[in-house]
Amino acid sequence: MIRTLAADLHRHVGQTVTIAGWAQTLRLQRALQFVILRDHTGTVQITHRRDGTLLEALLEGLSTESAIRVTGRLVANPAVSLGGIELIPTAVTVENLAETPLPIDANTGPEGRQDWRFLDVRRRPAARLVFEVQTTVEQALRSFAYSQGCTEMHTPKLMGTASESGAEVFEVGYFGRPAYLAQSPQFYKQLAIAGGIDRVFEVGPVFRAEPSFTSRHATEFTGVDVELAWIDGVEDVMDFEERMLAHVLAEVDAVHGPALGEHFGVKVAVPTVPFPRIPMTEALRIAAADRGRDDLDPAGERAVAAWVRERTGHEFAFVTEYPASVRPFYHHRPAGSPQLTASFDLLWKGVEITTGAQREHRYDVLLTQAAEKGLSPEPMQWYLDCFRYGCPPHGGFGLGLGRLLMVLLGLDSIRDATFLFRGPNRLTP
Ligand code: 4AD
Ligand code: MG
Repeated sequence: MIRTLAADLHRHVGQTVTIAGWAQTLRLQRALQFVILRDHTGTVQITHRRDGTLLEALLEGLSTESAIRVTGRLVANPAVSLGGIELIPTAVTVENLAETPLPIDANTGPEGRQDWRFLDVRRRPAARLVFEVQTTVEQALRSFAYSQGCTEMHTPKLMGTASESGAEVFEVGYFGRPAYLAQSPQFYKQLAIAGGIDRVFEVGPVFRAEPSFTSRHATEFTGVDVELAWIDGVEDVMDFEERMLAHVLAEVDAVHGPALGEHFGVKVAVPTVPFPRIPMTEALRIAAADRGRDDLDPAGERAVAAWVRERTGHEFAFVTEYPASVRPFYHHRPAGSPQLTASFDLLWKGVEITTGAQREHRYDVLLTQAAEKGLSPEPMQWYLDCFRYGCPPHGGFGLGLGRLLMVLLGLDSIRDATFLFRGPNRLTP
């Protein structure tokens, strides 16, 4: 049986077609039975005049959200508000009758929508559009990365030692000993650089055991990671990322521009490059937070973004030259400025979407910096060994896909930018 999609029906007026989807609305009147059928592309009205047949009984027994197939003749009827067409059914198959009542409705709050995420996503075209946009974003990220000579890698998410630091990692049982879920592909993408893979690209799961309940934090999210060998400095990394994002947003606008306006009231602003760069000392001054602080809090990030926007009109801002005190041991420190790092965060509309840096590739310096942070080399010797046998200068970044979508679509929370959210209080569905 050939299935015709709701969005294509206007091309089949006068023909017999089969459509498949969900009974969105039922209006069972005395003489006529109306069903609005919804598939993933749109809706169509089914109109049946009561005739005492099995068909009438099948339609009478429907409940909303039942999965049905309907065959019938498509006719033009200017009185029908849904596109001026209606389907006059000749056969109905009820594939799966929905129980009543439905567990969620238009007034269900965010937690209830998470509990019944499949119904939430099915019933709200805007919720489904998020994943269509995500698909375009990933495709554009990949095509850009490939065009720049990146090799796509898949690194392990099970680790024998905690990556970077012990604080935010989940421990899992592993044949009688502990293993840890990777909280970044950081060390492995650097291992790939040491392996002669010149430019590394990875999209994969990232786990963070942070008990954070903000709109921006998840305990599992999708990370987009890039690592570039033979860089001259961190500027090369920022240059790569800003061009990547400009490409991604141009693609999103081209593919989804009108839909984003309709469903989210969003007009995609394709950014110009270069993005503004603000050294941390200046960022702290702008955020009026320079007294006794050396990092920006979320309010500070918003203040910096507002300042940049006001002066340049730009929605993006790189904050650069983070103090070594707030950065990991592996960040490279510029010659003559051991208190600083060659690193950055990228803010979009005041939300951190990326952290990146040039890495320290000199073994002795790396050991010193690790010791300074109180880290013992033994558990990460396999990582440190990458820097003992010829490692090029390199740098990269990690971009949170959920954060990117949340800011792009103007969503209130990363929960709505994630298919199945994971947080401290959420492990189901
Ligand atoms: O800033 P983060 O922690 O940096 C790293 O993991 C570095 N190893 C990256 C690098 O290459 N230097 O994480 C990178 C990005 C953040 O900027 C943010 O977009 C996202 O990942 N992110 C989260 N997204 C959702 N929930 C969380 N708990 C997140 N933590 C970080
Ligand atoms: Mg960060």
